[in-house]
Amino acid sequence: MPRGQLLTSLGGIALLSIALGVGPVPAEEAAVKIGLILPMTGQQASTGKQINAAVQLFVKQHGAQVAGKTVEVILKDDASLPDNTKRLAQELIVNDRVAVIAGFGITPSALSAAPLATQAKIPEVVMAAGTSVITERSPYIVRTSFTLPQSSVIMADWAAKNGIKKVVTIVSDYAPGIDSENSFRGRFVADGGTIVDAIRVPFQNPDFSPFLQRARDDAPDAVFVFVPSGQGGTFVKQFIERGLSNAGIKFICTGDVTDDDQLNGMGDAVIGTISAGPYTAAHPSQENQSFVTAFKQANGGLRPNFMAVGGYDGMHLIYAALEATKGVSNGDALLAAMKGMAWESPRGPISIDPRTRDIVQNIAIRKVEKRDGELYNVEFETFKDVKDPAKAAMAEKN
Ligand code: PHB
Repeated sequence: MPRGQLLTSLGGIALLSIALGVGPVPAEEAAVKIGLILPMTGQQASTGKQINAAVQLFVKQHGAQVAGKTVEVILKDDASLPDNTKRLAQELIVNDRVAVIAGFGITPSALSAAPLATQAKIPEVVMAAGTSVITERSPYIVRTSFTLPQSSVIMADWAAKNGIKKVVTIVSDYAPGIDSENSFRGRFVADGGTIVDAIRVPFQNPDFSPFLQRARDDAPDAVFVFVPSGQGGTFVKQFIERGLSNAGIKFICTGDVTDDDQLNGMGDAVIGTISAGPYTAAHPSQENQSFVTAFKQANGGLRPNFMAVGGYDGMHLIYAALEATKGVSNGDALLAAMKGMAWESPRGPISIDPRTRDIVQNIAIRKVEKRDGELYNVEFETFKDVKDPAKAAMAEKN
């Protein structure tokens, strides 16, 4: 963000706050407002729809009263345009005086709001975006989604152990894609594998065909893929059309690609695909079965995906923090309560690393299978309590 623009936006908050005679965080008010900023329209709209549905479900199940306060969720659509995210975050902080900003469908959106969270001293709960560095951009950011390195490193180990020697990586050409490419390569090469080509495809309206042709010509054992939630259906279709499966090239990916939101529409050709990820609707726990059933009932049969669970857990975090502070909604108090919090999510046990404010969670290797006529990512090996490997590596160095 240009420096002048940032100063203007932060100055705006300060001036308005002075004019209103209040600080940005209303600790003593009866209502606790949560500003939920999501892409409800545009390319990432499926993420907004999933997260909003999960947030609404959480409030329906737990009620709007927490520790004597009434929680009010204010939903805003940023269409996944970071300038919109920043403007909406500013309006929510200054005009609506929200206690928390939450959501953030893509990394650039999460990053654009970071200086505002710092300035206003309120938590920014990242429910979707997955680039490792996000939590380092403000001491007020807490993440309930995932990081791309968490899944990519585990996929690299699996590939190396399962006879895959030469890989072409194909990632979306923006921050989480670069994170995914780098972390996969780092681990796969350390495991003795070779990256024969590293292909980056445009984030906006991608046509994967020419890139898939290039990957086919490279003749690797496998392609490793990250594209953001919502693009997996098109990717898989073009992968098959370009004949990579017929050429014997294996397809491995992060769970973003075999997304539960789209998986059933991908067709039987996707059966057998191996991915690594934090959540599958097929996760065999009581918590998850209840979550999936309730989510489907409330949303006309829509299956929750990994984004939905990030939203559901984000609400759990906010509610539990409010309970811990006995309803005090001051940002520093909420943040202190959030650090180190641990609970059982539909995806399994999770916690917030008190040092990095990032999520610690199990990552599973899954295989697409057909069950009762539907396609699912079925877990077959689970790695417990995975921290973001990018930050864990930094911590070891220091
Ligand atoms: C992101 O922009 O950080 C992002 C979006 C969708 C995903 C993963 C990461 O599936």
